[in-house]
Amino acid sequence: MKRILIAGLCALMMGAIPAGAQWGPRQIPEPTDGLKDAYKDYFKIGVAVNNRNVSDPDQMKLILREFNSITAENAMKLQPTEPKKGEFHWEDADKIADFCRANGIKMRGHTLMWHSQIGSWMYQDEKGNLLSKEEFYANMKHHIQAIVERYKDVVYCWDVVNEAVADSPVYPGRPELRDSPMYKIAGEEFIYKAFEYAHEADPDALLFYNDYNDAEPAKSQRIFNLVKRMKDAGVPVDGIGMQAHYNVYGPSMKEVDDAINLYSTVVKHIHLTELDIRVNEDMGGGLRFNQGKATVADWEKTLQQDQYVQLFKVLRKHKDVIDCVTFWNVCDKDSWLGVRNYPLLFDENYKPKQAYLAVKGFDPKMDNVVIAEDFKPSELNQPGQEYPMVNSQGYARFKVIAPKATSVIVSLGLGGSGGTVLHKAEDGSWMGTTDGPMDEGFHYYHLTVDGGVLNDPGTNNYYGSTRWESGIEIPAHDADFYAMKNVPHGKVQQILFWSNSTNQVRVAWVYTPADYDKTKKKYPVLYLQHGWGENEYAWWNQGHANLIMDNLIAEGKIQPFMVVMTYGMTNDVRPGGAGLRSFNYKDFETVLCDELVPFVDANFRTIAKKESRAMAGLSMGGMETHSITLARPEMFGWYGLLSGGTYNPEEVQGTGVKGIFIGCGSKEGPDQIRNAAKKLQEAGYNAKGYVSEGTAHEFLTWRRCLLEMAPMLFVK
Ligand code: XIL
Repeated sequence: MKRILIAGLCALMMGAIPAGAQWGPRQIPEPTDGLKDAYKDYFKIGVAVNNRNVSDPDQMKLILREFNSITAENAMKLQPTEPKKGEFHWEDADKIADFCRANGIKMRGHTLMWHSQIGSWMYQDEKGNLLSKEEFYANMKHHIQAIVERYKDVVYCWDVVNEAVADSPVYPGRPELRDSPMYKIAGEEFIYKAFEYAHEADPDALLFYNDYNDAEPAKSQRIFNLVKRMKDAGVPVDGIGMQAHYNVYGPSMKEVDDAINLYSTVVKHIHLTELDIRVNEDMGGGLRFNQGKATVADWEKTLQQDQYVQLFKVLRKHKDVIDCVTFWNVCDKDSWLGVRNYPLLFDENYKPKQAYLAVKGFDPKMDNVVIAEDFKPSELNQPGQEYPMVNSQGYARFKVIAPKATSVIVSLGLGGSGGTVLHKAEDGSWMGTTDGPMDEGFHYYHLTVDGGVLNDPGTNNYYGSTRWESGIEIPAHDADFYAMKNVPHGKVQQILFWSNSTNQVRVAWVYTPADYDKTKKKYPVLYLQHGWGENEYAWWNQGHANLIMDNLIAEGKIQPFMVVMTYGMTNDVRPGGAGLRSFNYKDFETVLCDELVPFVDANFRTIAKKESRAMAGLSMGGMETHSITLARPEMFGWYGLLSGGTYNPEEVQGTGVKGIFIGCGSKEGPDQIRNAAKKLQEAGYNAKGYVSEGTAHEFLTWRRCLLEMAPMLFVK
């Protein structure tokens, strides 16, 4: 029981700790279905494979789970299939084709005519002289017809000509096409001929022109121009293959969207044929295989995930014209770019990345949401600062001035996404809007600019995640209970007290109700603890504990009591990882029970007895509360755990506890709270369980918990 409880507490606390900070990245369980299933209403999801991929049982299983279109990475290219004129080698291609036949998967054929991976016999004689056009065409026709015929039953489309358009920049007067030997021999016509031969060999196959830098505005225009000329000349071209060798910095989604729009005016089929997204600046044919670090930083993973997520969002929008999206290789270990480029959705061990989940876990409803343009500055902004902004739907929009930066990420975004990636706006600033509405209430966040962590100069700072962070407030529908209103206000004052056990002066903040200074009354006291990342400022600064108390008192909903908020650690090193389980709360117990409580009782008009003393805490503060209240039953009569675990009847037996409050957000496993409250009630305890609707391990949960807990405290 105890072990389960501790594990449960740890699970509850996870959310309070920045992702990966203490426990490392979360393990992603083995998927039960694949990308192909998630995208079944949109387009096929393909993969380029080598022979090892289709020989290893584990890899085959993964391929069959995730993909429903297959391309041979190299095996159907010119050189591998016909290294010498008339000398065909089909073993490798057959192996992949047979795998597809056996599993009922249709293939994209790649590729019939390309300047690379081609036997030079195709276009030159033994002395190196270019062949005549007629000889070249005969060679080409022979090759194309042999391979197309052979795989006609399993290949449903072909990349007929690959990479024939010139890279940028193309200077005025220069050809728009690559100056390959084939081009030298026959000019643009060789492209037309390749399509004609392929069409003759298999009139049913869809025929594609395929190229890279496919979203770069100038090159995409040239690709469009070529295909348009082919169409006008009656060449049987059906589609454009966008290789999509992208990186985390580009292309922009506007460029991708523009390219798809342009291409779709000339063809009915667009495939992404060789998708990968490198974590460095390389693009398309730029191959610096070893660039990038051996280990990829979290912020780079965030950039990559965002680029993948935004790309698939654009692709879904164009599902009418896009019918297949093929990844170039199964996992990073297979990638032609090498592991260091970290380019795919499966890592070097064939394990799915977080980005895989993000690409797969899209919400179709979110694709059509229109963001309301009624953004207002967040109420936590520094004076006169416009950004960050929040709209009526709960979206947050950020603007950061960092003219020379190459990437700016806001650590705030939808579940597990690692944040919101900002993009350079026309005025040179970095802007971005969260992918969806944020939960109501207060959120900590920070910026990551080129890998460096900074606060947003637009906002005030709040101590959380063990540092002063930026904060944003998404107005809650029930914000009135912690609003600053024209009611009598109590005081929050700092007290400094000597602590013998730690040999230092320590800090606490004491809330005294508005009538404290006007009467001689004595007051009950709630000792209220912060969580793992916070300090003694948190409860009144971002928690608004004093305003919640003022409002409750003004409305006559509670009898006034004091609240004392102190730092819950005896050093700056916080528990975490294994340390969390073994963290020794005894040192803080001594500070609280033997030093702070006596100091407060000596210096304030408190009712210095158990029945009038409560302890409560959020998250780790809940763990402290749990162990200290049970260790010192003579000191506290009232216990509160806020997203900080539960009590069971056995452990509170004999403590003489007067009342127990346990609460959490609906997004952090509320059943534990409901069940535990029920058990305590059934055992005859004065217990209240509370679940804050629509909130997670964040401050709106705890503000609401205080609101719900306060009325039950000290009531006889
Ligand atoms: C690459 C393969 O992945 C590598 O194994 C090979 O060494 C070179 O070719 N554009 C294309 C693909 O059209 O055929 C290329 O594949 C990657 C770039």
